[in-house]
Amino acid sequence: VGDLKESDLKGKKVFVRVDLNVPLDDDLNITDDTRVRAAVPTIKHLIGHGSKVILSSHLGRPKGVTPKYSLKPLVPRLSELLGVKVEMANDCIGEEVEKLVAAIPEGGVLLLENVRFHKEEEKNDPEFAKKLASLADLYVNDAFGTAHRAHASTEGVTKYLKPAVAGFLMQKELDYLVGAVSNPKRPFAAIVGGSKVSSKIGVIESLLEKVDILLLGGGMIFTFYKAQGNKVGSSLVEEDKLDLATALLEKAKSKGVSLLLPTDVVIADKFAKDANSETVAASAIPDGWMGLDIGPDSIKTFSEALDTTKTVIWNGPMGVFEFEKFAEGTTAIAKKLAELSGKGVTTIIGGGDSVAAVEQAGLAEKMSHISTGGGASLELLEGKPLPGVLALDDAL
Ligand code: 3PG
Repeated sequence: VGDLKESDLKGKKVFVRVDLNVPLDDDLNITDDTRVRAAVPTIKHLIGHGSKVILSSHLGRPKGVTPKYSLKPLVPRLSELLGVKVEMANDCIGEEVEKLVAAIPEGGVLLLENVRFHKEEEKNDPEFAKKLASLADLYVNDAFGTAHRAHASTEGVTKYLKPAVAGFLMQKELDYLVGAVSNPKRPFAAIVGGSKVSSKIGVIESLLEKVDILLLGGGMIFTFYKAQGNKVGSSLVEEDKLDLATALLEKAKSKGVSLLLPTDVVIADKFAKDANSETVAASAIPDGWMGLDIGPDSIKTFSEALDTTKTVIWNGPMGVFEFEKFAEGTTAIAKKLAELSGKGVTTIIGGGDSVAAVEQAGLAEKMSHISTGGGASLELLEGKPLPGVLALDDAL
């Protein structure tokens, strides 16, 4: 969108797909407005250039029109952040919407109702996409978090509305998650955590082609330990992934990647925040105990390895950080990355739970980039093309 000229934008109706899929509490208050704030630069740019902005998003996974999935609760926060009164439509297509669109002044913003209230959205129905397209003169996709979905408002609409370009958020996400990851300043390290190997196989395999160092943490390490013949007590293990874990360790060796597993772990006698805990060597987890975090020796080894790097990408927590007793490993990594950012290292937080952990530690502002995508970041890191990006005229 930054490449479009004043004359391309002034007085033009711009359909902007954003990802306002934010968490709401029972009283419909926004509990995390990160995605709303992330959508602001593109919208402000368009307002500032005299465009008539039509905002479209989904919220949740409604089956038909469902009041609790209305985008109405987003209006006050959006208006506040944009400094203009955002108008709200009761639908995203139809005569009423067309009237409201015709009434948008230059520099005005109309928020369309949840596009998933129509089942045609997720079906990527061409007739529905055409109706969305007919509302505007050009299309901007800034919904990185939804770019892995080939839906009518992310993919289908681009067949009928041109030019179709990326917004600033989309561009920034791609610059970091594709650009910095494919062409990193080296040494390049990845930290991959999370509870299951099965959900991170694609990411690990793809990153093994690119990184110099791979640090593994989180529940998935116990599948690796067991594959190496260690006793893991009652830690989480994916029995059907033992061969795969061995294969990944061998692949790392053959690629010359320095793969580090934690050498010590914090174990618990039950999966609870008030569990009894102890720190033991990774090879000495007693029966009846389960590993819930990486231990202090591992934090030290991981930190030393990270000290040598110029680029770091992190996806997935090191332990059960939701429980204070088992948050230390994850918090220590967040702090280390914040420190490295201050020294000029590129630090990328690749979506999902690690983003929540960095935010919980109050370190979000320190990182080079924090992704607004969960599934979209994972798919990108797995090396999969995103349909919402491929559909754009200026796609990478
Ligand atoms: C997300 O939160 O990951 C995106 O908004 C996509 O939502 P979805 O998984 O319901 O398609």
